[in-house]
Amino acid sequence: MAIYVPPTEREKKNPILPFGDHHDSPFYSMDVLSVSQFGRDDLDYIFGVAKEMRAMVERVGTFDLLKGKILANLFYEPSTRTSSSFLAAMERLGGSVIPINEVTYSSVSKGESLPDTVRTLECYADVIVIRHPEVGSAKLAAKYAKKPVINAGDGVGEHPTQALLDLFTIEEELGRIDGLTITMLGDLKYGRTVHSLARLLSQYDVSINYISPDILRMPSELVEELKVGGIRQAEFSVLDPVIGETDVLYVTRIQKERFKDAEVYKQVKGTYVITPDTLRKAKEEMIVMHPFPRVGEISMDLDQDPRAAYFRQMQCGLYVRMALLAMVFGKA
Ligand code: NCD
Repeated sequence: MAIYVPPTEREKKNPILPFGDHHDSPFYSMDVLSVSQFGRDDLDYIFGVAKEMRAMVERVGTFDLLKGKILANLFYEPSTRTSSSFLAAMERLGGSVIPINEVTYSSVSKGESLPDTVRTLECYADVIVIRHPEVGSAKLAAKYAKKPVINAGDGVGEHPTQALLDLFTIEEELGRIDGLTITMLGDLKYGRTVHSLARLLSQYDVSINYISPDILRMPSELVEELKVGGIRQAEFSVLDPVIGETDVLYVTRIQKERFKDAEVYKQVKGTYVITPDTLRKAKEEMIVMHPFPRVGEISMDLDQDPRAAYFRQMQCGLYVRMALLAMVFGKA
């Protein structure tokens, strides 16, 4: 016989779960908007659940943890990995998805506001995943939605679920995070993945190198924020001086769509190309990561190198997103 557990205050307002689920979990019904929401204990917990998800996917493929739940996947910017891994995560958990990948075919193209779109979608779905070109859009969506909102990238702001999967990948590949030297390379100004990842890494004992063209440096507020937290950071314009000490080389795409002036983009595009030759001076036990898409900054010749971790990184994304969804529904 099931034991009756009284609903929490939050649950009474937002009853997305039948009673008896883990509604006392700190993640239950939570919005995922920024990496600053997660402390080290939370990260360990998420990674533990992600490992369970990996084991289940390998064993049974799909299972019924979120049967009956619906996710709205609302993408105002292009996406391959984030959108399809949320979709796959929900389906592997037995739930289903309303995919809105092309907002031009939805009422958004008629001028519908974001608050109206999310309040519409939550009439049909239990959780909303949103990607939008403006910083703060996920927060705005969460302000209006009663159901949980997950930020899948808000312009040049944050990309919290990517950072979680990046960190999980580092731990899976290298067995630890403390003590590592992480070198971020490419478009550090507009790249939201590096903004979120640097913030998450600041909870660990790490050194971070930033390599970028001068006009694409890591935002100074973020560098300052990490400095206050005691993180060792150094900035360079070339990779050579630090490749030998690097444990994780995190490469990013120069974000063409964020440039107002196409000429300026042309000046910096192609600044860095990582090839097998680049890694000649690198450690045997290091990894190369990239959130993808790559547009020439990592040569395909590198893909055979065991240190090239970017496809394994994508795979980790499925497990981390499954873990987050299970947690938001109080099922982990
Ligand atoms: C990134 C993004 O959209 O921020 N990709 C991703 O989510 N995997 C990086 C990029 O677009 O360059």
